[in-house]
Amino acid sequence: MSRNFLWGSATAAYQCEGGWREGNKGLSNWDVFCHSEKNDVNPVTGDVACDHYHRYEEDIRMLAEGGQNAYRFSIAWTRILPTGVGERNREGIDFYNRLIDTCLQYQVEPLVTLYHYDLPQPLFEAGGWENRRIVEQYLEYARICFEEFGDRVKYWVTINEPNYETLCCYGYGNYPPNVQSLERRWRAMYHMMLASARAVSLYRELGNQGMIGLVSDSYPIVAGDISPECEKAVRKAELFFNLCVNDVCVKGSYPEDFLEQLKEDGYDLSYMLSEDLEVFAKGTVDYLGINAYNRYIAEPCEGDGTNLKANNKGNGENEKFQIGGWFSLGEDKNMEKTPWGMEICPQSIYDLLMTLKELYPRTPVIITENGVGNYDEPVEGQIHDAYRIDYLNGYVDWIEKAMEDGCDVRGYFVWSTMDVYSWINGYKKRYGLVYIDYDSEELRRIPKDSYYWYKNKIQEKGMKFHG
Ligand code: BG6
Repeated sequence: MSRNFLWGSATAAYQCEGGWREGNKGLSNWDVFCHSEKNDVNPVTGDVACDHYHRYEEDIRMLAEGGQNAYRFSIAWTRILPTGVGERNREGIDFYNRLIDTCLQYQVEPLVTLYHYDLPQPLFEAGGWENRRIVEQYLEYARICFEEFGDRVKYWVTINEPNYETLCCYGYGNYPPNVQSLERRWRAMYHMMLASARAVSLYRELGNQGMIGLVSDSYPIVAGDISPECEKAVRKAELFFNLCVNDVCVKGSYPEDFLEQLKEDGYDLSYMLSEDLEVFAKGTVDYLGINAYNRYIAEPCEGDGTNLKANNKGNGENEKFQIGGWFSLGEDKNMEKTPWGMEICPQSIYDLLMTLKELYPRTPVIITENGVGNYDEPVEGQIHDAYRIDYLNGYVDWIEKAMEDGCDVRGYFVWSTMDVYSWINGYKKRYGLVYIDYDSEELRRIPKDSYYWYKNKIQEKGMKFHG
């Protein structure tokens, strides 16, 4: 197995593949949602997206020519098992075989996510992650992927972002099933964590030699002021965003005060079975994948209400985020923000990594996503995204500093390899190192300034990068 530092970039199936009815693929909850009237914020679909389904060779070649040695992508469950269960679909398996073989042909290490938000529609209709049956169904799907691709894929991700996905599905309510119920959110997340732990154990039982982890959107959280109330708010925000995922997959158990808080909220927790304790304890990850975007400032609640409203319009209008009985989020007016309200604060990755080192000293970290979304426009055929270069450059430098100070980081992936469908933010919020001209028939790819910056940075840092 390669011991090189992984320098790569990332995508996810629904966001880039397109080919939504090709190769015998089944429908996912995102296919159905995007074609429904519920998709009313930025009503576009991933039917074609970047057409990565047909143009993966070009995308991987550009990635390799950009000096990158790793590509993170996800498998669409619906290509492997069109209805979520049953017979394997050879055409889907062949597509991912081609994708993986192309990576290897270009000396690019594939890092493969099994689940990145897109659920087979029949499973979604049966309750999705709220229904415990999905744990077994997911495990069967994972087994097939390990069997089919495990000979060449040495880095696996069980699940992408149990926190952020469930927050959108059941908190903001902007992702399917579009509800606002934190009680349902915690239930869905619990089953994700259980499925992930089972998949980690299965991977090892099957005798695989690679590394398997979970990808967690994680946040450096600071106190609004030095009062004891703010300190309490910080702990609750840590539980709400970070520890409900990271403690479970790294330490193999839930924090006691997290469970206490759920009880205090009056939720039915009968889905948490005592037999699961052993599953969590056994299924701890080989590495923790971190998606790093944002920093949070925690403060005590104002009143006892919950307020969750997403800004998917990119118009700079952000509502206060508050979880009644837990905490609220403050704002530092002096910090620069994107039109979607994301604070630009590269040095915060240093704090996050040092916290992770304290909490989980034996678990290596891979930065599985880091990036900034904005409106990019070509000028005379080029994309001058200096703001992205500043942001990414700051992150890489602060990650390096954390590594010098003892944090075991094994890789870094920019989100995203090329511009992709940004979930319900549509196509205008762009993150790519490569621009996609969605108006051109051939979906022309244009490397941005940041693509060249990244190539130079990788060259400057070298493949060992303290590895
Ligand atoms: C992460 C996801 O949350 O952030 C990606 O894993 C996503 O799928 C990325 O695209 C950026 O978020 P958004 O909503 O701005 O596209």
